[in-house]
Amino acid sequence: MNSPLSPDQRALEAFPAGIANGEYGLPPEEIVVMEKGQGCRLWSTEGAEFLDMSMGWGSVLVGHANPNVVAAVQAQAPNGSNFAYLNSQSLALAEEIRSISPASERLRFCASGTEATMYCQRLARAFTGREKILKFEGAYHGANEAGVTSLFASGKVNFPTPELTSAGTPAAARQLLVAPYNDIDALRSILSEYKDETAAILMEPLQRCTPPREGYLQAVRAAADEFGVLLIFDEVVTGFRLAYGGAQEYYGVVPDMVAYGKALGGGYPIGAFGGRADIMEMVNEHRIGGDDYVWMASTLGGNPISTAAANAALGVFRSEGTYNRLHGMGQQLREKMGAKLSDRGITGQIIGDGPLAQVVFSSDPVFDYRSTKKGDSEKGRAMMLALFRRRVFLNPMGTKLYLSVAHDDAAIDDLIERFDSALAEIH
Ligand SMILES: Cc1ncc(COP(=O)(O)O)c(C=O)c1O
Repeated sequence: MNSPLSPDQRALEAFPAGIANGEYGLPPEEIVVMEKGQGCRLWSTEGAEFLDMSMGWGSVLVGHANPNVVAAVQAQAPNGSNFAYLNSQSLALAEEIRSISPASERLRFCASGTEATMYCQRLARAFTGREKILKFEGAYHGANEAGVTSLFASGKVNFPTPELTSAGTPAAARQLLVAPYNDIDALRSILSEYKDETAAILMEPLQRCTPPREGYLQAVRAAADEFGVLLIFDEVVTGFRLAYGGAQEYYGVVPDMVAYGKALGGGYPIGAFGGRADIMEMVNEHRIGGDDYVWMASTLGGNPISTAAANAALGVFRSEGTYNRLHGMGQQLREKMGAKLSDRGITGQIIGDGPLAQVVFSSDPVFDYRSTKKGDSEKGRAMMLALFRRRVFLNPMGTKLYLSVAHDDAAIDDLIERFDSALAEIH
């Protein structure tokens, strides 16, 4: 198309806030249009090179244009992109996931993390005959009702009352209970009151960038069993990232159901959900017509391009030393960022685990949403925008950073230099 407008002006014409897929909230003058990604770098249509600390919101853990993933996609592309049906790639992928995910006695594919957590919730409701899902304040589970409720909460509403973050989600007020993360007593007291109405606990085992306290996930598992509710792990972020076996392996806790997405797809659209065989059996289409049948169908779920990419990505993750490297880099990143904060006398800390890091401008312990929110969020946004202007690509709606297999010591040093300069600007 021949247009007198620049790419960023065209984007502002085409999309609300100039953004094609949501989030960012960039000031209009900061909008760039990306054209190319390689390893841990991105290039805009204007040829500007960015160090990528978002990596497709963590979906490209394998690195942009990873040669193994590219080869797998190129091999599949001439043989068809979607049959909306069982195929050799999706079968092989399901077998591999089952071998490392004890919760996934059976599984199915969909096309995003949002779908995966939605199906887990629907199954939990159908299986238990109860309506409420308990989530944790500040947790994100995709764009479905549970995902977006009590997300950017005021922190002033009493637990377990949900607070709508998105307009147009009125059912959430009735269907959700909200608890503080990392507080087992609060969870148990909500469950003891609402156990007869609660289908499941839905949680990010590592919530955003906040790790679980020692023994917390084990205690949540025990509470779920004691009060007779299901436990769903949203492993869309933790899956294949904290360990090859995700949070289940890393923390040694097995939920009743699990949702995957992001890193699994090697940068291609994917979602998967697995669970106990008796729960998953509810999507068996031979049950249609009965009241124990749960509708599940996804046009692009398990398509051979995405699952070929996923099989290749998992091959990369399985290679010797991947997780030692990812954890080592994450630790290095958090330590070096923390050192820059203290060198400049700035109150703050770097939280996270594995290849994840988040800046919180507060010195108080961070263990849940409200303690994270105590951090100076205006300073957080100013810092993210200052980094963006220094050509670090990230999502300034939060302060979370993602490393990938394609990052290395030089990339971390590069980031640290730009971080220090960004701190100098905002301080
Ligand atoms: C923990 C978690 N669950 C679910 C999702 C939703 O995944 P998707 O954007 O693929 O629908 C996200 C996305 O950021 C996430 O972080």
